[in-house]
Amino acid sequence: MKERISALLKRKSSDEVVSAEGWVRTKRDSKNVCFLEVNDGSCLKGLQVVIDKEKLTDQDLIASITTGCSVICRGPIVASAGGNQDVEMASTDITLVGECPVDTYPLQKKRHTIEYLREIAHLRARTNMFGAVARVRNTLSFAVHQFFQERGFSYVNTPIISASDCEGAGEQFLVTTLDLANPPKTEEGLIDYSKDFFGREAFLTVSGQLEGETYAMALKNIYTFGPTFRAENSNTKRHLSEFWMVEPEMAFCDLTQNMEVAEEFLKYLFKTVLEKCSEDMAFFSKFVESGMEETLRTIVDTPFAHLTYTEAVKELEKHNDEFEFPVSWGSDLQSEHEKYLTEVVCKRPVIVTDYPKEIKAFYMKVNEDGKTVRGMDVLVPRLGEIIGGSEREADLEVLTKRMEELKLDPEAYWWYLDLRRFGSVPHAGFGLGFERLVQYVTGMGNIRDVIPYPRAPKLADF
Ligand code: 4AD
Ligand code: MG
Repeated sequence: MKERISALLKRKSSDEVVSAEGWVRTKRDSKNVCFLEVNDGSCLKGLQVVIDKEKLTDQDLIASITTGCSVICRGPIVASAGGNQDVEMASTDITLVGECPVDTYPLQKKRHTIEYLREIAHLRARTNMFGAVARVRNTLSFAVHQFFQERGFSYVNTPIISASDCEGAGEQFLVTTLDLANPPKTEEGLIDYSKDFFGREAFLTVSGQLEGETYAMALKNIYTFGPTFRAENSNTKRHLSEFWMVEPEMAFCDLTQNMEVAEEFLKYLFKTVLEKCSEDMAFFSKFVESGMEETLRTIVDTPFAHLTYTEAVKELEKHNDEFEFPVSWGSDLQSEHEKYLTEVVCKRPVIVTDYPKEIKAFYMKVNEDGKTVRGMDVLVPRLGEIIGGSEREADLEVLTKRMEELKLDPEAYWWYLDLRRFGSVPHAGFGLGFERLVQYVTGMGNIRDVIPYPRAPKLADF
């Protein structure tokens, strides 16, 4: 394997000729020397390449090298006289691989707005900020697997096309090959999905949980990590229509153990990114969210706060005049309330538990009070909910009754109910929104900037 620029930058000065491949970020030209900054995405920094023009055989070459072009430079890595870097490459052997016309290249040397960069999402990974986001996302993604693999969890691939609605919120995208202009109809005049591709209605999944539970009832501890889809008309800085979710599910597990895993998991991810992406994290701390590194370090060393929903509402009610949507027992918590709890009341991440059953999904275990469920949300400053989870209802009768109350057809979930018929055990799990995680650690203001190609209402470009 050829060495990447991140490795070349760690080399000591020597005569050995090495090569660097990448894209030119900047060029500074003077009479005798030309300086290029070459970046290959392996790290934030580029390699400074110093070209002694007198030794260059092709004198026209320098003029054709512009910002954005791709090059291969060969030469020794030597100590740098400039103050910005320890080493640089001295090169007189340069190949211009792909030209980049200055007048039409959308990425100029100047700073572009984040909104403009969203319009050129196919090129934005070439900027410092989006390169750093991509590396942090990559590191977090690997760390997710590492965390669970080190603890004996099996990675399970749950289906992307699903026949059930896990969250019961009706926010699913229909998957169909029917002719929309002329769909087949039943005698009652409804669309006849038995004629559709799958012979029934099918949707893009909103969560892999239900299928994940079936594997937890065999392998004990599992996790999924895949794309999920929500046809929810939310145009906010923390919602996407397509996002990635990490969902562990554990058999022989209650809500308390579930919360412990969630806290340990988040802290592991924060610690990993601080260690492995220190250069990028320093960049985010400086240019995006002041002091983000220090904030994460503090979180890693501090226990999360805990509140029941009832306690949370009591706190919030004292400040109802400050909210757009005043709160009372029974109301769903909005983002403004979640942020208030974690930023003002607790001043650290907080796990809120025992929500009213009316505002949570059908599968959550009902508490003895008959009113609340063993659900939990992990809330973090600036963002609110980052994790949602629960202990699951393991009792067949209670669960069936819940489904009927919510007008869900128990017949349609026969396989899910089988888990409660055959060797049922207490079990629990949660879902971490992967983009919310990336958004949180980088401090990026809008979730659309932490996924390469965001999908949101009226937005499916590229
Ligand atoms: O709270 P949610 O809806 O929970 C579930 O889907 C459960 N089935 C998870 C489980 O227990 N296995 O979603 C889980 C997390 C949220 O906390 C949030 O971080 C993220 O997924 N999320 C979204 N992220 C981006 N855009 C959206 N529209 C999101 N909706 C949920
Ligand atoms: Mg939720």
